[in-house]
Amino acid sequence: TFVVGENCIRCKHTDCVEVCPVDCFYEGPNFLVIHPDECIDCALCEPECPVEAIFSEDELPEDQQVFLELNAELAEVWPNITEMKEAPADAEEWAGKPDKLQYLER
Ligand code: SF4
Ligand code: F3S
Repeated sequence: TFVVGENCIRCKHTDCVEVCPVDCFYEGPNFLVIHPDECIDCALCEPECPVEAIFSEDELPEDQQVFLELNAELAEVWPNITEMKEAPADAEEWAGKPDKLQYLER
Protein backbone atom coordinates (compact mmCIF):
# COMPACT_ATOMS: atom_id res chain seq x y z
CA THR A 1 0.00 0.00 0.00
CA PHE A 2 0.93 3.65 -0.27
CA VAL A 3 0.99 5.87 2.79
CA VAL A 4 0.49 9.60 3.34
CA GLY A 5 3.26 10.85 5.59
CA GLU A 6 3.99 13.78 7.83
CA ASN A 7 4.63 16.45 5.23
CA CYS A 8 0.98 16.44 4.18
CA ILE A 9 -0.04 17.89 7.53
CA ARG A 10 -1.04 21.55 7.06
CA CYS A 11 -0.12 21.36 3.35
CA LYS A 12 -2.96 19.20 2.01
CA HIS A 13 -2.58 20.12 -1.65
CA THR A 14 -5.00 17.35 -2.72
CA ASP A 15 -3.40 16.86 -6.17
CA CYS A 16 -3.08 13.22 -5.15
CA VAL A 17 -6.82 12.49 -5.07
CA GLU A 18 -7.32 13.43 -8.72
CA VAL A 19 -5.21 10.56 -10.03
CA CYS A 20 -6.25 7.70 -7.76
CA PRO A 21 -8.07 5.12 -9.89
CA VAL A 22 -9.82 3.58 -6.90
CA ASP A 23 -10.64 6.80 -4.99
CA CYS A 24 -9.09 5.62 -1.76
CA PHE A 25 -8.16 8.97 -0.21
CA TYR A 26 -9.92 10.18 2.94
CA GLU A 27 -9.90 13.72 4.25
CA GLY A 28 -9.42 15.16 7.69
CA PRO A 29 -9.20 18.82 8.75
CA ASN A 30 -5.54 19.29 7.77
CA PHE A 31 -4.33 15.92 6.45
CA LEU A 32 -5.29 13.19 4.02
CA VAL A 33 -4.89 9.43 4.37
CA ILE A 34 -4.94 6.42 2.07
CA HIS A 35 -7.08 3.41 2.91
CA PRO A 36 -4.59 0.55 2.99
CA ASP A 37 -7.16 -2.11 2.05
CA GLU A 38 -8.36 -0.14 -0.98
CA CYS A 39 -5.04 1.08 -2.41
CA ILE A 40 -3.98 -1.03 -5.40
CA ASP A 41 -0.34 0.10 -5.37
CA CYS A 42 -0.54 1.82 -8.73
CA ALA A 43 1.95 4.49 -7.58
CA LEU A 44 0.23 7.24 -9.57
CA CYS A 45 -0.30 9.51 -6.58
CA GLU A 46 3.28 9.56 -5.34
CA PRO A 47 4.73 11.97 -7.96
CA GLU A 48 1.64 14.21 -7.84
CA CYS A 49 2.26 15.48 -4.32
CA PRO A 50 4.07 18.84 -4.47
CA VAL A 51 5.59 18.28 -1.03
CA GLU A 52 6.53 14.62 -1.53
CA ALA A 53 4.41 13.41 1.35
CA ILE A 54 3.40 10.07 -0.20
CA PHE A 55 5.48 6.92 0.12
CA SER A 56 5.22 3.32 -0.78
CA GLU A 57 4.92 1.34 2.45
CA ASP A 58 8.36 -0.16 1.78
CA GLU A 59 9.98 3.24 1.44
CA LEU A 60 8.31 4.96 4.36
CA PRO A 61 11.12 6.52 6.45
CA GLU A 62 11.87 4.91 9.81
CA ASP A 63 10.78 7.99 11.72
CA GLN A 64 7.37 7.99 9.99
CA GLN A 65 6.33 4.41 10.70
CA VAL A 66 3.52 5.69 12.92
CA PHE A 67 1.80 6.95 9.76
CA LEU A 68 1.09 3.39 8.64
CA GLU A 69 -1.25 2.93 11.56
CA LEU A 70 -2.61 6.48 11.28
CA ASN A 71 -3.59 6.02 7.63
CA ALA A 72 -5.37 2.76 8.44
CA GLU A 73 -7.15 4.18 11.45
CA LEU A 74 -8.26 7.52 10.03
CA ALA A 75 -9.35 6.11 6.65
CA GLU A 76 -12.07 4.29 8.59
CA VAL A 77 -13.52 7.46 10.08
CA TRP A 78 -12.83 10.34 7.69
CA PRO A 79 -14.94 11.02 4.56
CA ASN A 80 -13.80 10.06 1.08
CA ILE A 81 -12.30 12.80 -1.14
CA THR A 82 -12.08 12.46 -4.93
CA GLU A 83 -11.77 16.01 -6.19
CA MET A 84 -8.97 18.46 -5.76
CA LYS A 85 -9.65 21.54 -3.69
CA GLU A 86 -7.69 24.62 -2.71
CA ALA A 87 -4.80 24.04 -0.32
CA PRO A 88 -4.71 25.97 2.97
CA ALA A 89 -3.57 29.58 2.44
CA ASP A 90 -0.43 28.95 4.49
CA ALA A 91 0.41 25.58 2.89
CA GLU A 92 3.70 26.87 1.48
CA GLU A 93 4.92 27.99 4.88
CA TRP A 94 4.39 24.54 6.31
CA ALA A 95 6.05 22.60 3.51
CA GLY A 96 8.95 20.58 4.82
CA LYS A 97 8.64 21.79 8.42
CA PRO A 98 9.75 19.12 10.91
CA ASP A 99 7.64 17.59 13.68
CA LYS A 100 4.23 18.36 12.21
CA LEU A 101 2.53 15.34 13.76
CA GLN A 102 1.68 17.48 16.80
CA TYR A 103 -0.56 19.62 14.56
CA LEU A 104 -2.61 16.75 13.17
CA GLU A 105 -6.29 17.51 13.68
CA ARG A 106 -8.82 14.71 13.82
FE1 SF4 B 1 -4.55 5.45 -5.18
FE2 SF4 B 1 -2.64 4.33 -6.59
FE3 SF4 B 1 -2.02 6.12 -4.75
FE4 SF4 B 1 -2.89 3.73 -4.01
S1 SF4 B 1 -0.96 4.15 -5.09
S2 SF4 B 1 -3.56 5.69 -3.19
S3 SF4 B 1 -4.35 3.27 -5.65
S4 SF4 B 1 -3.18 6.50 -6.63
FE1 F3S C 1 -1.25 15.80 1.06
FE2 F3S C 1 0.34 15.85 -0.99
FE3 F3S C 1 -2.02 14.86 -1.27
S1 F3S C 1 0.14 17.43 0.53
S2 F3S C 1 -3.24 16.04 0.15
S3 F3S C 1 -0.45 14.05 0.02
S4 F3S C 1 -0.96 16.09 -2.75
